[in-house]
Amino acid sequence: MTTDSYQDDRGNKDRSITNPHGRGTMSPGTTSGERSHTQDAFLIGDNMTGGYGQGPDILHDCTIAVNPGEIAVIVGPNGAGKSTGMKAVFGMLNLRKGAVRLDGEDITALSPQDRVAKGMGFVPQTSNIFTSMTVEENLEMGAFIRRDDIRETMAQVYDLFPILKEKRGQAAGELSGGQRQQVAVGRALMTKPKVLMLDEPTAGVSPIVMDELFDRIIEVSRTGIPILMVEQNARQALEIADRGYVLVQGRNAHTGTGKELLADEEVRRSFLGG
Ligand SMILES: Nc1ncnc2c1ncn2[C@@H]1O[C@H](COP(=O)(O)OP(=O)(O)OP(=O)(O)O)[C@@H](O)[C@H]1O
Ligand SMILES: [Mg+2]
Repeated sequence: MTTDSYQDDRGNKDRSITNPHGRGTMSPGTTSGERSHTQDAFLIGDNMTGGYGQGPDILHDCTIAVNPGEIAVIVGPNGAGKSTGMKAVFGMLNLRKGAVRLDGEDITALSPQDRVAKGMGFVPQTSNIFTSMTVEENLEMGAFIRRDDIRETMAQVYDLFPILKEKRGQAAGELSGGQRQQVAVGRALMTKPKVLMLDEPTAGVSPIVMDELFDRIIEVSRTGIPILMVEQNARQALEIADRGYVLVQGRNAHTGTGKELLADEEVRRSFLGG
């Protein structure tokens, strides 16, 4: 993982936001034995083929995976199927082929709600907050499946995103783009997920806010929550990626560590502007 540009002491050392149970047993970040490593990943959408309703297949044998301690990044052109891949992993698509496994368990048949109960947190690309509700109500909604005390988690989310604490009584729709994305990520963290999926968390924000959000995402990943995210800012995202996927027309076009993809001639020429 390329952490040079990030200070090591910025991580949130409080690991209690994670659910330590049910983690995978694979050691993160290895590139050797990639095939078997991927197969056993903590979260994997394995050889997924499928589309929307009765429509044509959008995904073709597409595989995406992530392990604890890792940030996995999906990049690719508009319409490549990045969001569709995320939705497939979250159970919003009927797969015609392939499987989704979480911590060794086949969850292909589970509804999105049941996947949340199993520990998946998902922040979709659009409509990811309740704009007429306050920031705090959004966070409370995020915790809807929990029956225990959510105050500690809320305090941790406010530690991670101090601006949300300041604006907790304000309607989320009144926040800036970057602040809204913090609400969306915070809302997903309220379930204490075992894995966090983010579809374009930095969409529409300035480069400075993007760097900020990436820093926070790195912090979350350091608490032990694996992160699977789609990013439009390919170069910057691959710099923080332990695992990178370039999707083209619903297929895996290139796979490797973020570093490997950044160094790959073909990836650079076709997807990173040289
Ligand atoms: N709800 C839907 N119903 C039918 N087709 C859809 C739906 N959502 C997306 N598609 C189609 O699936 C293909 C992939 O779209 P998808 O949103 O997954 O791409 P993407 O890689 O996330 O693109 P972007 O970078 O623009 O977010 C497109 O051809 C799109 O038209
Ligand atoms: Mg998308």
